[in-house]
Amino acid sequence: MKVTAYQQVTEALVNKPKTWLITGVAGFIGSNLLESLLLLNQKIIGLDNFATGFRHNLDEVQSVVTAKQWQRFKFMEGDIRNLADCETACIGVDYVLHQAALGSVPRSIADPINTNDTNISGFLNMLVAAREAKVASFTYAASSSTYGDHPALPKVEDAIGKPLSPYAVTKYVNELYAEVFARTYDFHTIGLRYFNIFGKRQTPDGAYAAVIPKWTAAMIQGEKVYINGDGDTSRDFNFIENAVQANILAATANDDVKNQVYNVAVGGRTTLNTLFNALKDSLHTNGVDYSQAPIYRDFREGDVRHSQADISKIKNALGYDSKFDIVQGIRKAMPWYVDFLQNNL
Ligand SMILES: NC(=O)c1ccc[n+]([C@@H]2O[C@H](COP(=O)([O-])OP(=O)(O)OC[C@H]3O[C@@H](n4cnc5c(N)ncnc54)[C@H](O)[C@@H]3O)[C@@H](O)[C@H]2O)c1
Repeated sequence: MKVTAYQQVTEALVNKPKTWLITGVAGFIGSNLLESLLLLNQKIIGLDNFATGFRHNLDEVQSVVTAKQWQRFKFMEGDIRNLADCETACIGVDYVLHQAALGSVPRSIADPINTNDTNISGFLNMLVAAREAKVASFTYAASSSTYGDHPALPKVEDAIGKPLSPYAVTKYVNELYAEVFARTYDFHTIGLRYFNIFGKRQTPDGAYAAVIPKWTAAMIQGEKVYINGDGDTSRDFNFIENAVQANILAATANDDVKNQVYNVAVGGRTTLNTLFNALKDSLHTNGVDYSQAPIYRDFREGDVRHSQADISKIKNALGYDSKFDIVQGIRKAMPWYVDFLQNNL
């Protein structure tokens, strides 16, 4: 059987462990990165201020790794808006995975100032601190929102439009800073443009929850599910394990594929109507029946109508393989949601 790029990289890491910094480690993507890297016996520093992350995410990771693996994790409560915190966190680090940010388009519309402070000033602090610490690589969470109003489908990295929200502006500015740091300081980074990542530990709580955890929670609680628009809006939903793979491949990549942004997705497109039925079916398999019809309401401000990635660039350059499609991802994630929500409602 053919050995994948990911298998090669993870094997090399197990044989020769590295020190990683994960910012936003208590969040959804950060805590999944933490879990995967600890299971590979890596040494991790995690930075978070719990703005949108949770201690219970860290506790859960502790429960699935060995005591010895957990000892390799050092948590630092701190804020990326504070340069000194970023500098401390970067000491002795080989690979940075910068995930900390205030996510959500609607949050950024309601609170552009805090979104800007964290996502732009905090990002710049991390770039400066990582460059000073001479880390071997810097991988950051970019976003598909950078495609803005560009009509082309599927989305190809080079063709972007105008941003449709303050959040999209911040994520685009990250890419501009990353490019300027390459040109000015010869500091090369990789930006991963995530397309709607989902999976365990993505919070269903709060006004800014993402669609999959929000609808799953509503269905489990027997509440109404609201669809913004006519339900034909589509997204390239990508399971978290694909995103973890992309981060590990990016962090360990050669210099010749750095100073680039890459789409991280499946390359598919699922409408909200199809998603509604897929979640309902998967819940049924997990012993939860939901019989209500969805309620359609106005389109949401700042949302793009369709989103689908071309993933050939990341496949060719990094050997990324979108192993899980949306159906497999939902199947893997659902038992966690049922368990988490039934125990926390
Ligand atoms: N989830 C997605 O589908 C998606 C899509 C595109 C981009 N992204 C990006 O991926 C990254 C991770 O997103 P997520 O879904 O895990 O969100 P999340 O909210 O679960 O995680 C973000 C983490 O960053 C922490 N954080 C926020 N502000 C901070 C600060 N000032 N200092 C230190 N820590 C801070 C939060 O407490 C949280 O733990 C973000 O940069 C987000 O913009 C996510």
